[in-house]
Amino acid sequence: MNKKRILSGIQSTGNLTLGNYLGAIHNWIDLQEKYDCNYMIANLHTLTVRTNPDELRKNILNLIAIYIAAGLDPEKNNIFIQSQISAHSELAWILNCYTYMGELSRMTQFKDKSEKHADNINAGLFTYPVLMAADILLYQADLVPVGEDQRQHLEITRDIAERFNKLYGETFVVPEGYVSKAGAKIMGLQNPENKMSKSAENKNDVIFLNDSPDEIMRKFKKAVTDSDGIVKYDINRKPGISNLMTIYGTIKKMNKEDVEKEFQGIGYGKFKQAVAEVVIEELKPIQDRYKDIIKNPEYIQKICKNGKERAEIIANKTLYDVQKKIGLIL
Ligand code: TRP
Repeated sequence: MNKKRILSGIQSTGNLTLGNYLGAIHNWIDLQEKYDCNYMIANLHTLTVRTNPDELRKNILNLIAIYIAAGLDPEKNNIFIQSQISAHSELAWILNCYTYMGELSRMTQFKDKSEKHADNINAGLFTYPVLMAADILLYQADLVPVGEDQRQHLEITRDIAERFNKLYGETFVVPEGYVSKAGAKIMGLQNPENKMSKSAENKNDVIFLNDSPDEIMRKFKKAVTDSDGIVKYDINRKPGISNLMTIYGTIKKMNKEDVEKEFQGIGYGKFKQAVAEVVIEELKPIQDRYKDIIKNPEYIQKICKNGKERAEIIANKTLYDVQKKIGLIL
């Protein structure tokens, strides 16, 4: 048991996109043998945006079903729900007292989200990175696979851990980001300058994991390209084509050069169709397994129960250590 420990999570906010899948879960599958993997449903983080309770319940179950349908083996990966382990909230409060307003004000996600939800700039949105730090530090995670957009949150986690360790002696493992070779940032199909986002206004911009084959084909056929007619990777001049190449290459585990070669002399129409086909082929078995799993909420609950039990042992040990060091344990 001296495998390095990995921790990551996804917020339970409705339909996952192809971007969530290729940027996260798809890569996690390859890690399950080599690392001690822990994946969380970050349902406390979702409270920073107002959510309907029935929706939230549904989204939590959905996300676990997707984790498993996508191939995360619950025997090899510890899958658990953040809110079921009270240590997350408890450590987050403590760490709030070791984090500065100035640091949190610099978080670009906070700035973006407060613009987007100007009517609900709650304190949770502001301290969101501290809860994320608690998630990571509780498990003494060595590696945290996250996308580019979460890098700043990982940095602040490292700062908080180092600050605490300096004050009280070695307490937390200072985590590193994990950038997998296959890690992909998927952009919108209509706006390839922006990340594929489930909240995009134009639904043709986004592939959802539960889109039907026809929808997937239709959306790829409408994807924005350019007038060159050459399948070549050039993120600045050809963001649309480059994004389609990333999608194709990530699924087929091919590098850009090989994708370029495969589609040399082949027009955009055929290329788009080929990309749509690999996506349909990749998602079809996941969609089928998902439909089976979601019919069986007891099975999902059982996985969470096991996950909670395993996670709690590690989390509570860290929390106790922290409480002891700062003088809360008499
Ligand atoms: N904030 C992350 C996101 O929105 C989700 C998350 C919460 C997370 N806690 C985490 C990711 C801990 C990695 C580690 O994508």
